[in-house]
Amino acid sequence: MIEKVIERLKNTKSLLVITGAGISAESGIPTFRGADGLWQNYRAEELATPWAFERDPVTVWKWYDWRRGIISKAEPNKGHIAIKGFEERFENFFLITQNVDGLHARTGIKNMVEIHGNLWRVRCSKENKTFMLLDHPLREIPPLCDCGNILRPDVVWFGESIPYEYLEKAYSAINSCDTLIVAGTSGVVYPVASFPQMVKDNGGFVIEVNIEATPISQIADISLFGASGDILPSLLKGLAG
Ligand code: OAD
Repeated sequence: MIEKVIERLKNTKSLLVITGAGISAESGIPTFRGADGLWQNYRAEELATPWAFERDPVTVWKWYDWRRGIISKAEPNKGHIAIKGFEERFENFFLITQNVDGLHARTGIKNMVEIHGNLWRVRCSKENKTFMLLDHPLREIPPLCDCGNILRPDVVWFGESIPYEYLEKAYSAINSCDTLIVAGTSGVVYPVASFPQMVKDNGGFVIEVNIEATPISQIADISLFGASGDILPSLLKGLAG
């Protein structure tokens, strides 16, 4: 199976990679769904919606501060590093990540969009200006902008639209790739959940990497079941051989 994928990659002109929380699991960052997932213990609607933030910004910010603490101790793992290796190997390469942890960026990868934003970046709730706020723990909760208004994490919450410029980059990559590797996502959150089918509709080849079957397994040409930190480096190594 893996040989077939390597063969396909050797004939790939334009590679798109899509990642979700599973790619960061081996860095010690909890995923959202599944037995140990964040949504087992926390309710998304109380923490990851604009209404929750409006009602109780302190609780929302405490949750983000806790997650920022976990992520601040994490390092990119072998999966992230292999994806950076793909970028070096392919002339046409793009990464769409749903992760807000910033770990892909820390590998030095350039051609990518963090389609759900980045939890180290904040946005003024009044002026809309954004900037990086790397303090951990935060000095004040909720953090305030120089203008005195509350800052919010610059992430896309449930019920919010993905910024147009992120979608434009994603659709351009979807329309120009001939192979997609989709790794470590449960494939249930839209619009990203619809991207593998779009690649298929364009005649592209879809490779899934996950520890278990997902709705994407129905669409994928091949699903490789195992940890992304094992499988992605094997694919990269196979390409070099
Ligand atoms: P999920 O938590 O829904 O799914 C994580 C996926 O990773 C699951 O399918 C796991 O089987 C898989 N997985 C876990 N460990 C793995 C490993 N070592 N190697 C490979 N796969 C592994 O996370 P996402 O699909 O990213 O959105 O969730 C999508 C969105 O839902 C997130 O971006 C977030 C969340 O609510 C927002 O906050 C807007």
